[in-house]
Amino acid sequence: MTETRIDLYASIHKALRSFMADTLSAVGRIDVDDAGERSAVLAQLRSLLQLLEHHASIEDEFIHPAMQARRPGSADGAAAEHRRQPAALDELRRLAEGVERAAGQRAAAAQALYRQLSLLIAENLAHMHEEETVNNAVLWAEYADDELAAIHDRIVASIGEQEMAQVIRWMVPSLTPHERAGLFGTLQAKAPAEVFQRLLEAARPHLAPRDWNRLSFGIAAAPLAA
Ligand SMILES: [Fe+2]
Repeated sequence: MTETRIDLYASIHKALRSFMADTLSAVGRIDVDDAGERSAVLAQLRSLLQLLEHHASIEDEFIHPAMQARRPGSADGAAAEHRRQPAALDELRRLAEGVERAAGQRAAAAQALYRQLSLLIAENLAHMHEEETVNNAVLWAEYADDELAAIHDRIVASIGEQEMAQVIRWMVPSLTPHERAGLFGTLQAKAPAEVFQRLLEAARPHLAPRDWNRLSFGIAAAPLAA
């Protein structure tokens, strides 16, 4: 039997995978001549890039030092990949500006953005896999679950409510019903009641009615959807 360990990466990486895939699809089908759609898709892209940036900084601040403390050098590879990320994100921001500016050439600019975004996502998928396998092996060997839970609590406490709502928006529809119930059970226990309610409402439009009902029933925190 494999015992289940606390996984610092699993849920947030599911959220990022969904956010990346959705954004890539949105860029791929963009109608560049529709100003409203253009600005909405590019805004989604920019918020994705910002979240990727912040996500890497959280790992740098909370996870890598823990790895290095008990197994020196074990976070070097992931940290080096994080140091390369800002240049890749800047390149995408530059390409996004090109889509806004290049009247007459917007379709070509959007195609260039789509291709470059797909490369960034490919690198990120491989990077996250490495973290979930190699980094987790280090964390699980060197830390007990109560210590990992303490790291997780410090990470969650460092995230502002607005960013948390954005994370929840992508995380909640990406989790299994069991994981979703666990997430909201933890939030209910640790967050102020009004913050918990706001996060629950942020998730609601992104869940199928059946999933919403299962979640509501599971945590008994909201009335069942009609
Ligand atoms: Fe990372």
